Amino acid sequence: MPYDDTFLRACRRQPTEYTPMWMMRQAGRYLPEYRAIREKRGFLEMCRTPELAVEVSMQPVDLVGVDAAIMFSDILVSFPGMGLDLEFAKGEGPVIHNPVRTAADVAKLRIADPHEHTGFVMETIKILRRELEHKVPLIGFAGAPFTLASYAIEGHGTRDYENCKALMWSDPAAWDSLLEKFGSTTIAYLNAQIDAGAQVIQLFDSWVGYVAPRDYERSVLPHTKRVIDAVTAHGREVVKGGVPVIHFANGATSMMDLVQKAGGDVIGVDWRLDMGLAVEQIDERFAIQGNIDPVALFAPDEEIERMVVDILEKFGTRPGHIFNLGHGIHKTSDPEKARTMLRFVHEHSRRIRSGS
Ligand code: CP3
Repeated sequence: MPYDDTFLRACRRQPTEYTPMWMMRQAGRYLPEYRAIREKRGFLEMCRTPELAVEVSMQPVDLVGVDAAIMFSDILVSFPGMGLDLEFAKGEGPVIHNPVRTAADVAKLRIADPHEHTGFVMETIKILRRELEHKVPLIGFAGAPFTLASYAIEGHGTRDYENCKALMWSDPAAWDSLLEKFGSTTIAYLNAQIDAGAQVIQLFDSWVGYVAPRDYERSVLPHTKRVIDAVTAHGREVVKGGVPVIHFANGATSMMDLVQKAGGDVIGVDWRLDMGLAVEQIDERFAIQGNIDPVALFAPDEEIERMVVDILEKFGTRPGHIFNLGHGIHKTSDPEKARTMLRFVHEHSRRIRSGS
């Protein structure tokens, strides 16, 4: 199989014959082949064992046929290196046993060394690049400072963020210091991923949609921008043409102006914004990633096809579209439906892009 760099070209807004597609959380539980491994191994153990992480990263490439691989890991793997006691409790998702609540807690946190604390990630990337040599490009990733801080403060996933916002409003100095520590850890971590061979970086700001635009602008944006600027500069130093950064601010479609100010080469859009409006609101200097409803994978094939065509037609024929779900794939999704969606994206985008 010849190497297919369509995804990388789309990130750089170069012309492509078809629209490339990958799916957030594509390396995961909807695949029986993932579950077979996961039955015998702990989640963090899988992340920390390069040969297992490589195997599950390759599964969506080989079994679904997506146009990019994303390394199997988690946005929280840097936590232990910072002094945060992380556990993935059964059925509960991530739990941090020593959450950050005060300025004194913030002061205790360290900036993690990417090689000392997460060397397994760099090893996974190096092996993956060899495995993907005749296949597709590799995406590395990290959490954005706000999303990481929200886990560190709340201690688990939440819907209200009361501890997180209380710290943001009551002690702005401690807040900024905390987000700076996450920012510095993330810059070092992503730059190490680039050095190891990650060809595109996605920054996940998964929970920033719970923040009001005013607070985003004052208390979040500068920290996200700092990470994106530093990683972009590093990418330009080490790779000809640079390493594109996908900035995915989930739930933030009411403040796309601010998200663009934080930067990136590709703006990730969730399914809540119509692609027609996304194209109007997002400046042409950015590529766009998205944005079908992840639950579309539960619709009849004909409806999936209509939704795919609607998004492709609204994006139009200019370069710079990466098709993706508007957020992560649900764990009960049928892999066959994902293959069907991918086929529709490839077929219809070829037709639309060739003008026939
Ligand atoms: O995209 C991929 O396929 C790469 C792998 C990946 C995982 N987590 C694997 C994972 C990526 C990119 C992530 C990022 C991540 N982790 C995010 C941002 C992505 C997003 O969806 O916005 C977040 C918020 C996390 C934190 C996290 N990790 C949560 C909330 C959970 C529990 C989820 C749940 O439904 O149980 C995890 C665990 C996790 N991360 C799993 C996987 C495959 C499930 C672990 C298992 O097998 O039990």
